[in-house]
Amino acid sequence: MSDDRCEVTVTVNGEERSLAVECRRTLAEVLREDLGLTGTHLGCEHGVCGACTVAVDGAAARSCLMLAVQADGCEIETVESLGTEEKLHPIQQAMWDEHGFQCAFCAPGFLMTVYCLLRENPAPTPEEIREELSGNLCRCTGYASILTGVQAALSRGAAADA
Ligand code: FES
Ligand code: FES
Repeated sequence: MSDDRCEVTVTVNGEERSLAVECRRTLAEVLREDLGLTGTHLGCEHGVCGACTVAVDGAAARSCLMLAVQADGCEIETVESLGTEEKLHPIQQAMWDEHGFQCAFCAPGFLMTVYCLLRENPAPTPEEIREELSGNLCRCTGYASILTGVQAALSRGAAADA
């Protein structure tokens, strides 16, 4: 192994993956470029927009701020783990039904943030939801429809699938 490459073993969406990656590369880059999981979006690339949010050992994390090598031994969940085109996850379905997103560039980050929130807190208050989503930016919707979507997901019992 050359000096600038590191061995990384992660479980991604339930599948163990071992890779030799340049030590300077971020988790977001490795997910997208090495593992083909392009559902994780890169916006600002410096921790501001939340588009790159994934679950790391169950907690929401900005994959643009994390080196892949820091994720060694961790369990990673990306937006690809949520649902399929044929069967959306209840959070995705609620967002779809409530027109939560427009261009949806921000959607993977919001979805994973909500997913992690509901796993930790199955009955968040509207204030807690706003607080949790305050670190995710959307350039299109003005946020009201996103919050409506989260409330719809809650009322349909989406927390049971988080
Ligand atoms: S791309 Fe990671 S926070 Fe914006
Ligand atoms: S729907 Fe376009 S950035 Fe959020």
